[in-house]
Amino acid sequence: MKPEVLITRKVFDEVIAFVRNHFVVDDNQSDIPFPPDALVQRLQNKAGAIILLTDRIDEAVLSRCPNLKIVSNIAVGYNNIDVPACTRHKVMVTNTPGVLDDTTADFTWALLLATARRLIEADQHLRSSQWNGWKLMEFLGSDVHHKTLGICGLGRIGQGVASRAKGFDMRILYTDLVRATRSVEKELGVSFVDKKTLLAESDFVTLHVPLGPQTTHYISAAELALMKSTAILINASRGPVVDEKALIQALKEGKITGAGLDVYEREPEVEPALLSMKNVVLAPHIASASHETRLRMAMMAAENLITGLAGKRPPNLVNEEVLSL
Ligand code: DGY
Repeated sequence: MKPEVLITRKVFDEVIAFVRNHFVVDDNQSDIPFPPDALVQRLQNKAGAIILLTDRIDEAVLSRCPNLKIVSNIAVGYNNIDVPACTRHKVMVTNTPGVLDDTTADFTWALLLATARRLIEADQHLRSSQWNGWKLMEFLGSDVHHKTLGICGLGRIGQGVASRAKGFDMRILYTDLVRATRSVEKELGVSFVDKKTLLAESDFVTLHVPLGPQTTHYISAAELALMKSTAILINASRGPVVDEKALIQALKEGKITGAGLDVYEREPEVEPALLSMKNVVLAPHIASASHETRLRMAMMAAENLITGLAGKRPPNLVNEEVLSL
């Protein structure tokens, strides 16, 4: 008898076919997230699950799903999963690091450029037939080239953003808990500074820190107050890294010039004030959403699931310690 697994949301057909070679698959092509009780119900008798970041796996779920051995997240971030609780319940947790770095770094630049050069606002102006000819003073944005870029979190994605900044002849600052090696700094042309210096000196601040207790509201009123009034904030990490209310206030008061956001504090809810702000570019959490990358992420999650349920160490195991229990 093949073990039973659940795929909680819509994924590519080839991924379902691949997983079906190994397991009896229950899936959810409606693509509407299961409410917690329904998720628990669908997880009954399942040995594993491929999940998205919209699925919360915590003590309340785990304690009611005793057969579960692995949750395979199709995302690099796993703040939707209570990892210590999974370890306590001997459930392996896996994620999809690496494959989305370049795609996410590309999109960070798309957000940065669109915000700096007011691209969305200009597009809407033209589409609504308001454009009546070239004007010297129309849609004046901010230059990007030769400016200072501040990267918070120089992990794989932060590094991808830095390497792209070289083409714009930027001065690149970064801050992180741990300083990168001198060879990485040299190769990327980045300088390590503390968070305050980065905020005070950067024209563009881009966030690439993982979400955790220490990074919740990593950017709040105090940090926004340190930024230049001409600065632009870019967030393609996780919504709660930015205190959205403080950001709205700072934008209203002109404490910073604009923001490019791919993520929100209470997704899919977006603070209504942001929706009406012209100096804000809003995307629906799509930084990794190229066809190629999302397929690779889903395949990687399938491989993690298959390997884990074959009794081997899944390639992208988050909670190593679970293996020694
Ligand atoms: C992740 O992987 O954590 C993203 O937010 C979705 O690609």
